[in-house]
Amino acid sequence: MDGQPQRKGNLNLAVPTLTAAQRSNLAPLTARAYTAWRRRSLTLLAGQPFDLRREERLFVAQCAPQRGEWWLDAGTSTGFYADVLARAGCHVLAADLSPAMLAEAARQRPHPHIDWAVLNIEDSGLPDARFDGVTVGATLNETHDPARFLRATARVLRPGGQLWLMYLRRTAGPVQGVLGYPAAGGLSFPDPAWVARQLPGCILTHGLTTGAVRFERHVKTAPEPHMPS
Ligand SMILES: C[S@@+](CC[C@H](N)C(=O)[O-])C[C@H]1O[C@@H](n2cnc3c(N)ncnc32)[C@H](O)[C@@H]1O
Repeated sequence: MDGQPQRKGNLNLAVPTLTAAQRSNLAPLTARAYTAWRRRSLTLLAGQPFDLRREERLFVAQCAPQRGEWWLDAGTSTGFYADVLARAGCHVLAADLSPAMLAEAARQRPHPHIDWAVLNIEDSGLPDARFDGVTVGATLNETHDPARFLRATARVLRPGGQLWLMYLRRTAGPVQGVLGYPAAGGLSFPDPAWVARQLPGCILTHGLTTGAVRFERHVKTAPEPHMPS
C-alpha cells in the first residue's frame, strides 16, 4: 500500500487472548488446507449450492467496489475477498494475524494492489476513517472478542464507507455449543441483532440468511460514539 503505514510488528503471538481457532490458523498446514475447505464451506454450511463465484457475485452486487477505493480485508486468510477487490481495481490491505495464511495468500493471489500485513484487527493501530470499505469473511466467528473486533472495523471506516460481513450466525445447535468451548475452538456464533447493536454508527442496508450463513452490508453514517474498549 504505497505511502501507507505498515504495521507488521505489533502482533504479539504469545498473548494468551487468542482463541484456539485463531491459534490453529497459525499452522502452515492449516494455511495450505484452507483454500480447499473455503471452496466448499458455504455449500456445506448454507445447506444449498453456494460456491465462491456466487459469494463474489453477491458481494459485488451489494457493495459495488469501485476502482481506486481503499479496502481492508479483515482476516483475509488466503485472500478471497482481497482478490475480488483487487480485480475490481481497489487498493487492499489484506490483514491476518497468521503469517502462514498470508504467505499462502501472497503465493496464490499475488497482485500489485494488495498489501499483505500481519495484524490483529482488534488492536491494529490503523488510523480512524482510513478505508472506503471493510470485508470480514467469517473472521467474526474466530476472533477473541467479536464486539471489540466490530468496533475496530467501524472505527477504520470513513463516514459513508461500507462494511461487508459474512459469518456463521447463532443457530443454538449442539455443535455450535461445543465449538464455543475454549478448548474446542472458542468460536463465537453471533446473532444478527447482537451484531447490529455493536455497530451503533452504522445502518444495515442488506441482510441475507441462508442456513447458518449470514451476509450483511452496513454503511457507516456517523463517527462511532466513544465506547470503552
Ligand atoms: C475463517 S478465516 C476467514 C477467511 C477469509 N476472510 C475468507 O473469507 O476466506 C478467519 C481468518 O481470520 C484470521 N483472524 C482471526 N482473528 C483475527 C483477528 N483478530 N485479526 C486478524 N485476523 C484474524 C485467522 O487467522 C483466519 O485466517
